[in-house]
Amino acid sequence: PTLTRRNLLKASAVAGAYGVGFGIAGKFAGKAAAAEPLTLKTAKIEASLADGGKTRNVLTYGDAGMPPVVRMKKGEPFAARLINGIDDPTTIHWHGIRLPNAMDGVPFLTQPYVYTGDHFDYAFTPPDAGTFWYHPHCNTLEQMGHGMTGVIVVENPKDPAFDSEVVLNLRDWRLGGEGQFIAQFRPRDAAKSGTYGTVRTANWQQEPQYDAPSGGLVRLRIAITDVTRIYSFRMDGAEATVIAIDGNPVPQRFPLDLLQLGPGQRLELAVRMPDSEGAVVKLEDIKGTNPKVLATLRAVGASLKRDVRDLALLEDNPVQKADLGSATHIPLILSSTAENTADNSICGSLGYSFWAINKVPWPGDTPDPMAPLAELKLGKSYVIDMENVTPHSHPIHLHGMSFTVLSSSTRQVQPFVSDTYLIQPDEKVQLAFVADNPGDWLLHCHIIEHQKTGMTSYVRVA
Ligand code: C2O
Ligand code: CU
Repeated sequence: PTLTRRNLLKASAVAGAYGVGFGIAGKFAGKAAAAEPLTLKTAKIEASLADGGKTRNVLTYGDAGMPPVVRMKKGEPFAARLINGIDDPTTIHWHGIRLPNAMDGVPFLTQPYVYTGDHFDYAFTPPDAGTFWYHPHCNTLEQMGHGMTGVIVVENPKDPAFDSEVVLNLRDWRLGGEGQFIAQFRPRDAAKSGTYGTVRTANWQQEPQYDAPSGGLVRLRIAITDVTRIYSFRMDGAEATVIAIDGNPVPQRFPLDLLQLGPGQRLELAVRMPDSEGAVVKLEDIKGTNPKVLATLRAVGASLKRDVRDLALLEDNPVQKADLGSATHIPLILSSTAENTADNSICGSLGYSFWAINKVPWPGDTPDPMAPLAELKLGKSYVIDMENVTPHSHPIHLHGMSFTVLSSSTRQVQPFVSDTYLIQPDEKVQLAFVADNPGDWLLHCHIIEHQKTGMTSYVRVA
């Protein structure tokens, strides 16, 4: 059957039926489905997040605290059944994973809503190893703000051996003095850099500490799953080497000095623990001259005396290189907007329109979305010429395909391979990619208030 968006909407009552096997074709289809699907059931729980008291109405996957770290293997089939146990329609988007369009989790664009009590089966084969994450793509400010953000690790058996691995899910919460949720956003902040949380956590704890072998190499996988905050990372007390950003090995490793990354981005560090037992290493976020400790690592046992220079390189992911000679350029201008065009949305639009892509503010997620930003030819190379004419930074995320950062007007960049680029005010940047994955792929700011007040569009690859 052909699935028009209207049919998709009607199909919602039997959502699961369209999960595995439907419409999956092309190079990202991978092998047949995995044997045992993982169950990810959404739930409303109570959790200890703040000092003031327990927080009720926390939303998660599973029933015990933070959404689980989901592990997959590069090139091997993965399957998960989303069961919706909360009072609100939802979906799962597998941020950064190149997969078939029908598995991308965007309501109306790629799949129907999953209503309360319904389920949807996701199945795909991740082609790339690295650190990714998952979250809903419906009523996202509310659902993600209340907890539904989890980390994904795609393992590669060929990776070099580390002495330990620590995964950090970094995010904030908008909580009042007794631990209760307060309004998720303020419109005046949505029109600026977004509304910040009041309680900052790593793995749903304030400043958690993890043990790691003295003198050993720790693979620290960090995912920024917050809806608003841009982090400036620094490591205090140990040498840390940046080995991957946004799920892809960096072209040249470099020591972590101060690195700014935005919502949706991931960072992998090789941390060389101090030799002396008991020494504490701090991962910090620097604002001005103020360090905020996010998490700490404590050295335990006799020193392993490892050297980061002995660590083999990570294998590159199989991302096609764009052919710059034949590439078509797509201009993309991020701006603010004065018109208020948003309130026909039924998937958690905030009722305001502050932002636009190429002067068009996204009207909200509806059964009949606006025309794509660009129609791309399958297999052809493209360069997005992106310009930020707003006074704020925006982590711009492209679904379904990875791009290579070619150049920036304001800074020296390595040719990073990524799915999210944090563009600064007045910056112009060129992002090259091959349109090798058919379907409708969302492109939006990952500051969710910006996404939900206009800074969203999509490209169509056919
Ligand atoms: Cu992290 Cu459109 O998503
Ligand atoms: Cu933004």
